[in-house]
Amino acid sequence: MTKILVNDVLVEEQDAKVAYNDRGYNFGDGIYEYVRLYDNKLFTAKEHFERLLRSAQEIGLDIDYTVESLTELVRKLAEANGVTDGGVYMQITRGAAPRDHAFPTPPVAPVLTAFTKSYERPYEELKNGVSVVTTDDVRWLRCDIKSLNLLGNVLAKEYATKYNAEEAVQHRDGIVTEGASSNVYAIKDGVVHTHPANNLILNGITRRVIQWICDDENITFNEEPFTVEFLKAADEVIISSTSAEVMPVVTIDGEPVNGGQVGPITRQLQEGFERYIASHSH
Ligand code: PDD
Repeated sequence: MTKILVNDVLVEEQDAKVAYNDRGYNFGDGIYEYVRLYDNKLFTAKEHFERLLRSAQEIGLDIDYTVESLTELVRKLAEANGVTDGGVYMQITRGAAPRDHAFPTPPVAPVLTAFTKSYERPYEELKNGVSVVTTDDVRWLRCDIKSLNLLGNVLAKEYATKYNAEEAVQHRDGIVTEGASSNVYAIKDGVVHTHPANNLILNGITRRVIQWICDDENITFNEEPFTVEFLKAADEVIISSTSAEVMPVVTIDGEPVNGGQVGPITRQLQEGFERYIASHSH
C-alpha cells in the first residue's frame, strides 16, 4: 500500500485528500521540490530543502519546517514505501480558505503533501542523448521560484511531446532561458555556457553540481545569456535536472548537434556527476 505524507502524517493513498478550496488547487499558490534517492540515500537534500525554504519566503509563505525536519519527513516517507531508487515530490500550499486572490487573513495552516516515485536512472538516454525542440518562453518573470504555477512549463513540455522530443528549450526573444523542466547548456571551445541564475530561470540543483564539477576540473562555467543560434552551433549541448541528470542533447529542432554524437566534455561532466552522487548522498 502506498503511503502519502499529508502535513506530518503518513496516510494511505486513498485517504490522501486536499480541500476543493485549497489555494494550491485554486491559484497554484504554493511551491514544490523534487529530491532524488540513490541507493536509499537522499542526493543534495540540503540544497533542495534550502531552495524550498527560499521559495516559501519569496511568496510570503510562513512555514515552520527546517531543512532537518523536511529531510526527516522525506526519509520517513521513502522508508514507509520501500523506495530506495527514485524520488520524492513535495508540495506546500498556502492552505484552504474561502476563495479570494489576496492572502487569507488571518493566515490559515499551510498544507504539505509528498509522494514517492520509484525511478530507474535513464541509462539509455544518458548514453545516446535526447532530442529537443525550441519554443517561446511565455512564463512569468519569477521563474527562480519553484512554484506550483506550471502552466507555461506544461504547455512547453506538451509541445515537445507533440514533436517527439524529450524537452522544449525555451527562449525569450531568441535568448535561451531553460527547458520546461531542466536547465540548458551550450558547450563551445571547451567552455560551458548557461543562462545566469536570475529571475528568468530556476537555479537548478543539478546546475549547481555541474558548476562544482567545472570548478573541480578547471572547465570555464560561463553564466551569460546566449541565443538559439549559438545553441544550435554549439559543439555539445546538455540539459540537466534532478531526474535527467547530465543529459546529452543530440538533435535540436530536428538538426543534429555534433553530428548526432555525444561529446567529450559531456562525458567528463557525466563522470564527475557519478562522483558527486557518491559523495553528496546521505
Ligand atoms: N524540475 N528548470 C525548471 C523549470 C525545472 O522544473 C527544473 C526541475 C530544473 C532543474 O532543477 P533541478 O536540477 O534542481 O532538478 C530547471 C523538476 C525535476 C520537476 O519539476 O520535476
